[in-house]
Amino acid sequence: MNPDISKPKFFGRRKGRTIRKAKSFLLDNFLPQILIKPTQHILLPDLFETPKKRYCLEIGFGDGEHLAGIAKAQPDAGFIGVEVYKNGVANLLTLLTGVKEGDDVENAEKISIRADREDNIRVFDDDVRLLFNALPDASFDKVFLLFPDPWPKNKHAGRRFINPDNLKELARILKKGGILQVATDHPIYKRWTLEVMHRNADFRWTAQCSDDWRYPPRDWFETKYQRKAIREGRRPVFFEFVRL
Ligand SMILES: C[S@@+](CC[C@H](N)C(=O)[O-])C[C@H]1O[C@@H](n2cnc3c(N)ncnc32)[C@H](O)[C@@H]1O
Repeated sequence: MNPDISKPKFFGRRKGRTIRKAKSFLLDNFLPQILIKPTQHILLPDLFETPKKRYCLEIGFGDGEHLAGIAKAQPDAGFIGVEVYKNGVANLLTLLTGVKEGDDVENAEKISIRADREDNIRVFDDDVRLLFNALPDASFDKVFLLFPDPWPKNKHAGRRFINPDNLKELARILKKGGILQVATDHPIYKRWTLEVMHRNADFRWTAQCSDDWRYPPRDWFETKYQRKAIREGRRPVFFEFVRL
């Protein structure tokens, strides 16, 4: 068998604990309704029932709390959420549909998005680097990268998501004036991010004073890793970089 040499190596976890019945059902029966395939050049307005005023991408949405929250708060925007971790994708689906463990999902007529939400999220359930090629130039207003895996050991620095190759893609798909929002609680990743971004000519850090990065922006929804950091006594930072 020929290995697919174009597939980047992914070092994180793809699956965790056994996924229970309702979430499994959602993965099989609801996810296909909002799933995107990177088979061709994607036109963002075509992904949604009606074109959106702006488009945002969240990379590694984890359990999906931020994505679900911000997409509900901004019904006129279209969101693409990307997550490799199946249990996280399944959790997002419960937030979007309101389905809970114990619900009689098998006898439900059709699972759909909750009535109080706009249908404005599309999901890619694999490595975002496999999606980049399909995404058009200068098409996103905002990219969220919230609490990326820090890979703190020096020998794993090459695995950190903030790196020149990924930044090249993010710079390409962001509109000029678009925002890359990065949050992290790890001291090594804080320093790494600022150093790598400082050397990158496509982005500028927007902070004017320390309050600009010590607190989350106003339209923020707490994530699982953010709560974990605070519980364990680490202070998250919120860096915003503008695409020049
Ligand atoms: C530390 S977790 C943070 C999750 C979430 N953003 C939060 O704050 O709770 C990082 C997540 O990024 C995902 N991830 C890492 N690299 C990715 C990639 N290349 N494409 C898509 N997801 C990725 C991982 O699967 C993991 O769920």
